[in-house]
Amino acid sequence: MDAYLMAEDFPKQFSKIECQPISLEGYAGVVFSGMGGSGIVGDFMKLFLSAEKPVLSIRGYDLPAFVKDNWLLVCTSYSGNTEETISVLEEALQRGLKPVCVSSGGKLREIANREGLVHIPLPEGYPPRYALGFMLSALLCLFGMDGSVERVREHLETNKEEIKKTAQELAKNMFTYLPVVYGTPLTEPVAFRWKTQINENSKTLCYNAILPEMHHNEVVGLDNPQIRNLCGFVLLYDPQDHERILKRVDITRQVFEDLGVLLKVLSGKGESLIERLLYLTYLGDWVSLYLADIYGQDPIPVKVIDFIKKSLA
Ligand code: F6R
Repeated sequence: MDAYLMAEDFPKQFSKIECQPISLEGYAGVVFSGMGGSGIVGDFMKLFLSAEKPVLSIRGYDLPAFVKDNWLLVCTSYSGNTEETISVLEEALQRGLKPVCVSSGGKLREIANREGLVHIPLPEGYPPRYALGFMLSALLCLFGMDGSVERVREHLETNKEEIKKTAQELAKNMFTYLPVVYGTPLTEPVAFRWKTQINENSKTLCYNAILPEMHHNEVVGLDNPQIRNLCGFVLLYDPQDHERILKRVDITRQVFEDLGVLLKVLSGKGESLIERLLYLTYLGDWVSLYLADIYGQDPIPVKVIDFIKKSLA
């Protein structure tokens, strides 16, 4: 499938799915497990559910020792074959948890069927990172937030052309620079998604730092003009961030102005946090595609990821 067509259709991925919603009552906490394009959904869900229960979004092989059978585990792997996620699932089964599995097939579906676990199927045929909307819709519906799913679809459709226009400008600014995407506590998952989409689609390095932590280290690194002049800086924030974070956004803007370095400060459009975050996410996805285009790269193949997976098999 063509990357640009998949991006055009991304808003349509936000549609309600049939599943029995889960109540968090009775659970000590929730763990989301996933890697890469499938890991990011756990970061989003952590933001949306943290007010209710302790929530972890883990990437790796191990389930933390304090996670017992009164925790809910949700394993997401688009292919269903990612070894880190399967390792977490197997460890959870040994501890007596009844995880929920989300995949388009693979071992995750096999294990779920064998163990009588809830398995939420995803449409097949997408590179995992292009299926973010399907995965997020599945998890939002699982946690009873299906109303947001429809609103996000409409919101992204309505703002698509504006998003694409802004993305084109940003991609031009990043060409031949190392993109550096700063985030805040509320935009952290989005800033990370920008990084990973730029890595995988545009085939170039990109890195993140997050407020307020970056005010305690990263900012000193800006002292070096030879290196900072190689970078293209973006800062993503949300108007609902902590008031001191908003103050820090202004100070960061000032620091860059004083250095004479361009920093694009952006927040998402939308009435709700989820609309604003998905607005920024969609913007980043388009930036990565336009940047791929300027570099003459095909956004789809991720040869080195395939090589590493094969080498481990
Ligand atoms: C590829 C991609 C990768 C994968 C990751 C995990 O499009 O985005 O980051 O998401 O290698 O694989 P899955 O998602 O199949 O568990």
